[in-house]
Amino acid sequence: MSSVLVIGASGQIGKQAVQKLLTAGHAVTALVRDKSKIDDLNDDNLSVFEGDLESDFSAALKGCDTVVFSAGSGASTGPDKTLLIDLWAARNAVEYSKAAGISQFIMVSSVGSDDPDAIDSPLKPYLVAKHMADEHLKQSGLTYTILRPGSLTDEPGTEQVQELMPGDKEARKIPREDVATAIVYSVDNPKAHQRIYGLFKGDQPLKSVIQ
Ligand SMILES: NC(=O)c1ccc[n+]([C@@H]2O[C@H](COP(=O)([O-])OP(=O)(O)OC[C@H]3O[C@@H](n4cnc5c(N)ncnc54)[C@H](OP(=O)(O)O)[C@@H]3O)[C@@H](O)[C@H]2O)c1
Repeated sequence: MSSVLVIGASGQIGKQAVQKLLTAGHAVTALVRDKSKIDDLNDDNLSVFEGDLESDFSAALKGCDTVVFSAGSGASTGPDKTLLIDLWAARNAVEYSKAAGISQFIMVSSVGSDDPDAIDSPLKPYLVAKHMADEHLKQSGLTYTILRPGSLTDEPGTEQVQELMPGDKEARKIPREDVATAIVYSVDNPKAHQRIYGLFKGDQPLKSVIQ
């Protein structure tokens, strides 16, 4: 069993990932800036670290062997937060992980972050931030898993996915719950090491894709 730090643990994917990791028997440290958002999570294997990703959060990694970065600045903030959270906090999490000797770093990235030039949309700065965070992780020497989900939905997970991006834009979706499950399947799983997974709704069992 692993000891997993979830960064962005009060988020919609992060919170489901915390619950699923605990159910799978892992110990979890949840990094949140507001403890009350995860008041409903109670488990002997859960510790909560209150911190802001715009400050030094290296102490959150203490005692952990795995780091999940599922934080994001969100659509309602401006380009300053895209830089500070999606790029810089992710970069700092990688640097802290190197210093702490973390054995696996799992990044929740995004569809389109492989090639931000391929998109002509207001999302491009966000995708550039995600791209640079992913590149930093890939070049860090850490064991990594990068998840690149399509547009996130709140439907219940089906664990039926495909890795290749569908041609039809409307089909480029995935329930957040399936991304949370993909995180759990990636933890301590050698098949997921140094791998980048596209995640879209499809017809392959998620477990067989990742494990
Ligand atoms: N939306 C999409 O369609 C889409 C598609 C592909 C990938 N993604 C990526 O998927 C990831 C997770 O998505 P989601 O829906 O779970 O996002 P979410 O619900 O907005 O969660 C974001 C998390 O980041 C945390 N956060 C933001 N700024 C912080 C700060 N300064 N200090 C500490 N925590 C901070 C939030 O904390 P608070 O609860 O305190 O705000 C929250 O826990 C994000 O990286 C997003 O970019 C999104």
